[in-house]
This record gives sequence, C-alpha cells and structure tokens, in this order.
Amino acid sequence: MAATAARRAAFDLALRIERDSAYADEMLHSARVGRLEERERAFVTELLKGSLRRRGELDHLISRRLRKALSSLDIEVLTCLRLGAYQLRFMGGVAPHAAVSESVELAKWARKRSAAPLVNAILRRLPPSPPPVEGARLSHPAWLMNRWQALFGRESCNAFLMANLRRPATYFRIPPPTVRRKALERLRRAGVEAEPTDVPRAYRLTSGDVRAARATLGDRFVRFQDINSQRVGGLLDPEPAGLVLDLCAAPGGKARLLAESSHVVAADRYRHRLRVMRRLGISGIQLLALDAERKLPFSCQFGRVLVDAPCSGTGTLARNPEIKWRLRPTDLRILSRRQERILGNALDVLAPGGSLVYATCSLEPEENEDVVEAAMRARPGWQSRKVLSTLPGRDPGDGFQAWRIRRPVA
Ligand SMILES: C[S@@+](CC[C@H](N)C(=O)[O-])C[C@H]1O[C@@H](n2cnc3c(N)ncnc32)[C@H](O)[C@@H]1O
Repeated sequence: MAATAARRAAFDLALRIERDSAYADEMLHSARVGRLEERERAFVTELLKGSLRRRGELDHLISRRLRKALSSLDIEVLTCLRLGAYQLRFMGGVAPHAAVSESVELAKWARKRSAAPLVNAILRRLPPSPPPVEGARLSHPAWLMNRWQALFGRESCNAFLMANLRRPATYFRIPPPTVRRKALERLRRAGVEAEPTDVPRAYRLTSGDVRAARATLGDRFVRFQDINSQRVGGLLDPEPAGLVLDLCAAPGGKARLLAESSHVVAADRYRHRLRVMRRLGISGIQLLALDAERKLPFSCQFGRVLVDAPCSGTGTLARNPEIKWRLRPTDLRILSRRQERILGNALDVLAPGGSLVYATCSLEPEENEDVVEAAMRARPGWQSRKVLSTLPGRDPGDGFQAWRIRRPVA
C-alpha cells in the first residue's frame, strides 16, 4: 500500500524546508498542495506546521528509542519519523496503526526501504507525550529560550513559548468599500463565523473555513492579515489623498491597507515578490524594484514612509515555526546592520514635518531599539516614539514592534 498523497506532499515539503531553507507558508501555497482536496490540504498544513512547532519534543521522543545519535539518520528517515511521531502524539483523528504503517510506507516510497523496520520499531514504541524534560516539552532551541527568559522574564517567556506551539488564530480584513455587515452576512451563509476586534475592519475567525469562503467571494472581499500587521498599516496616519512610500512592501499586506486611503509607492528588492503583488492589480499602488540598502533613487521627498523591515520574524513563530530551527545568534547582528542601512536611507527621503513608521515582526532588541537608537543618534532633534509592542501569549496575534519617527519642520 503506498503512503497517501497528503503524507507524501507533507514529506516533500518538509524536506524542502530542511534542505533548501524554503518557507512552509510558501510551500503550502504551491500548485502541488493546491491540487489536493480541501480536507487533504488541511491535513498537510497541520502535519507540516505542527511537526515543525513540536520538532524539539518529537526529536526527544524519537531519540529515546534510538540507539545512535539522531544526526546519524538520513534526513529522509528522520522526516518520516518526525511526521509519524506527530501523528501519533498530536493528531487525535489519526489511528495509531495508520500513523505507523503510513510512515513505514513513506520511508519505502522515499527510497529508504532498508530503514522501514527501524521506522516501524521506533514509532511502535514511542514514549508518551509530554516528556518529563521541560526543555523538550517547550520545543525551542536552548539559546532562544535562554535569551527570551532574560529579555521578558520567566512568566512572559513561558507564555510566549507556549503560544508558539499552538495553531495561531486566523484574522482577516474586510476592506473598504465593502460594507462590513453585508460581507459578514455572506460569510455566514458560506458557513463562516467571525468576531470583531478592536482594529476597525479586522475580524477573528471563530468557525468555518474562511479560505473556502474567500475562494467564492474573492480576495477584495476578505483578506487574510494578522491583526497586528493591520495595526502597523494603520499607524502611519496618512495625509488625505497623500503619497506614501512603503519601502519593503512585498507581499503587500500593509501596502494594500495604506492604499485604502493614500496613493502608495510600494518598493521591494525582489522582482518575483513584486510580481505577486502586480497580479493582484490593486489600484492606487505603484510598484518599484529597488534595493533599500543603497541610496534611494528619488528626486522628491515623502511626507509618510513605512519601513516594514526584513527581519528574523521571531514574533511569528506559531505561523512560521521553521524560523526558530534556522536562526543563529550571529544572524541578529547581520540583520541589525541591514536594518540600520535601510532605515537610514528611508529617513533621508522623509520630508521636513513628515513621519515614518519603522516596524518589524521581530522581538529582538538588536532589530528594534538598537536600530532606531542608532538612527536617532545620527539625527539630533528628530523624535522617535515606540507606538506598538505585542507579544504572542500576552497579546492577540503576531509579535510586532513599531516606532514612529518625526522629522522636524526645519
Ligand atoms: C517583512 S517583509 C514586508 C512585508 C510587507 N510589508 C507586508 O505587509 O506584506 C520585508 C520585505 O523586505 C524585502 N526586502 C529585503 N531586503 C530588502 C532591501 N534591501 N530593499 C528593499 N526590500 C527588501 C523583502 O523582500 C520582504 O518582502
């Protein structure tokens, strides 16, 4: 019996994430997954993201039944074991015998036939969950856990770590000019229930499949966007009919929100990411490919600028769990230097009296306070104020930090 198409897809995606540093969300939007039935897509998403969120715990359980080091296993075999262990310990809807036999079939399908008995033996005798070791239960690299405990204190850190292990809530936006009441009524008829949030036009899904509803209603009607990403889009206080520069714009969540009230110049370094935005064809957004680490090619200045900087993404680990296994301590300084260059160039094109929002979905001071403070030291008389700070586990949604920087009139 061959392993199911959904498990084969989850396996292939997991390998690409491991070998090519691919992103789970991008993989899950690929044509390969798109061809699966809705139920299978949901299965792949849960299996892939869940096994990444809990990888520390799964590896701990597997290694307790292994007579050699985990690192000595072929990555294909380890992936079969992780996916199988996740089904056994975290997917109540999967019968244990199916989780084991499907993983054995998966190993054979992945040309690791000789490892099939090992996969079978380990999964059949997998220890119970949760394991007694706290570090393994929390499923994060030790250096990150130690760092966050020092930064946030033990209680907030533990709440944050636990939040990263759960499937995040789904937020969406009903953009203008759509009338909210009518949109919600149509969603209800499509089986979707949602509750309002404190952010105007932002809703939290409470039941139903909003993706299926969006397929029918269209994405001008319902747009997925984290609640705090929507907050960042609203921080800029746009001038009526003004022009906004969004310097790191793709895939365009905040640019589209800004375009609800302003004309937007949406720039990004990567043309392929801008092409995705172009396909959406939003009016009021002009797209531009540029490298914001270099001097910007504008002859004018902007009254409003958004820098939603490329960052480590440590505020989004429930949504992007692969990041925690990839990040290295040295990455933070490298990112910080890059962010300093981008923010400096952005401030150079900010008009007198104008304001700029600098935001990241990182929780690390190197990418936040340090960057803003360096920019302010170089610009005496300019003002900066922290305007957003959210922490998963303490606040709803992803972790975001944002500052508003004002340039004096003269
Ligand atoms: C956090 S994401 C922006 C998300 C976007 N603002 C949104 O709301 O959908 C950061 C973006 O910065 C872009 N980027 C990275 N390096 C850049 C650079 N040197 N110049 C311009 N854009 C860059 C990345 O391609 C990525 O799209």
